[in-house]
Amino acid sequence: MTAGASTWRAWWPLVVGFPLLSLAVVVLVVLIAAQGGVAALQVPTNGAHESTVADAAQIQRGAYLARIGDCIGCHSVPGGPALAGGRAFATDWGTVYSTNLSPDPATGLGDWSAAEFRHAMKHGVSRRGLLYPVFPFQHFQHVVDADLDAIFAWLKQQTPVQSEPPPTQLDGIAGWRAAMLIWRMAFHRPTPLPQADALSPTWQRGRYLVEGLGHCAMCHGRRGAFGALIAPLRFAGARIPQQGWVAPALDREALSGWNVADLAEYLRVGVAPQSSAFGPMADVVHDSTQYLSQADAEAMAEYLLSLAPAPIRHGARLPVPRARETVTLASTALYAQQCADCHGKDGRGRARVYPPLAGNAQVTAADPVNLIRIVLIGAAAPSTQGNPEPHSMPPFVNRLSDAELIEVLNHVRGSWGNDAAAISQRQIDEVRALSVD
Ligand code: HEC
Ligand code: HEC
Ligand code: HEC
Repeated sequence: MTAGASTWRAWWPLVVGFPLLSLAVVVLVVLIAAQGGVAALQVPTNGAHESTVADAAQIQRGAYLARIGDCIGCHSVPGGPALAGGRAFATDWGTVYSTNLSPDPATGLGDWSAAEFRHAMKHGVSRRGLLYPVFPFQHFQHVVDADLDAIFAWLKQQTPVQSEPPPTQLDGIAGWRAAMLIWRMAFHRPTPLPQADALSPTWQRGRYLVEGLGHCAMCHGRRGAFGALIAPLRFAGARIPQQGWVAPALDREALSGWNVADLAEYLRVGVAPQSSAFGPMADVVHDSTQYLSQADAEAMAEYLLSLAPAPIRHGARLPVPRARETVTLASTALYAQQCADCHGKDGRGRARVYPPLAGNAQVTAADPVNLIRIVLIGAAAPSTQGNPEPHSMPPFVNRLSDAELIEVLNHVRGSWGNDAAAISQRQIDEVRALSVD
């Protein structure tokens, strides 16, 4: 009896520990496989001397694709040399800096192989180690090799700039790149675009660009814990982390007032009869989508207009007072005095010059931060090839008291058939606390 008990005491850690340890190993193996496998985590060493004879047509295609992927926008400091990196990206955990993509051998991609480049774009792993998902590799994973090679060929032709980006400044464990393995195991699933042979080639092209190089979901998608995009909510609309702007939902219901031609115009020109681009979207149009071919812009529009609404939308409607209950003669006079010169007494604006406020999803959005912000700080539509001298909207920050601001905003949210929830002082305070850029 006593002998049996003491044997058990000696052996129990093994008897219980071994299955637990085995289970942990199995779970780890499964999770590493799910995020792409061990091979995804290593930089390829083969292909270093792959021949990279690029012809002019491939380089030109690469230039076009790089625009759609907005490589220059993210990999250049505003006003600094193109592709030299160093642009800061604020995240909830600290700052990540973009890298040098110019062909400088010491600090850029000068001595990279095409295989290394493809691997970084598809798996988010480079010589630096595991890359942070501020770099849109979760979207770029959908880009086909021929397109990646064209982008690489184009990058190799650009002017080399010697410049090392500042080191990332992330708090705690996030600052340790290897810890990104845990994040990847939890949130990164390589997902090929599903076969959709029944759908038109235009739709497929649109999907390829929107989900891949265009990385539209990066701003328009809802994020969960640790900043990971939630796949079914990737077009549900969201507040962009650290920026205080809302990127609205993109689906056939949210875009019900749009058609393919107008959406394509919005992407290529920055203005459309429904709305004009402002805030971060003005930068996207300026740096990237204005260069889309008409066919590609229409394909993207067709894809967006085919999307079913996400199960949850950003800023679900709350049962608060309706703005239309606050519309009075005084608010009508205030609107007439401050806004009607441009946006019209009837709120219809002037097509492609002053966006309409009537029936405008930005004006009636459940989360009104964009509306409050644009009236406080003003806005400039992007200057594009199709609209080189856009009109801008003046800031009202020093022209309206909070009470007047609430009055005029509720006026536009509750007039001409608009029917949104009334804006409160708390929402104004929240927006005033945001930084201006
Ligand atoms: C939304 C901003 C953003 C866009 C758009 C973007 N990048 Fe990046 N990229 C980054 C950031 C930030 C990093 C650094 C990530 C890190 O340090 O982990 C990065 C890293 C990289 C790396 C890894 C470089 C290295 O030295 O390890 C490559 C390669 C790269 N990007 C290529 C591209 C290309 C090509 C495009 C255009 C098709 C592009 N990126 C578009 C933000 C972006
Ligand atoms: C850097 C963040 C960001 C990225 C990337 C981005 N958007 Fe936006 N987008 C916004 C914001 C913010 C708005 C709201 C401001 C506005 O309407 O101009 C917006 C507005 C829009 C609108 C207008 C919707 C409406 O109801 O008025 C469309 C359409 C749109 N984006 C399409 C796209 C497409 C297509 C892509 C990918 C090529 C994309 N966006 C990428 C931030 C972004
Ligand atoms: C001098 C002309 C002018 C005045 C006055 C003016 N706006 Fe604007 N507004 C514009 C222009 C131009 C844009 C497009 C800016 C852009 O796309 O960045 C705009 C954009 C907007 C938008 C975004 C709509 C969209 O879909 O792009 C809202 C909302 C708005 N204005 C509301 C107001 C309100 C409310 C007032 C009065 C307090 C006002 N504006 C006064 C010219 C004006």
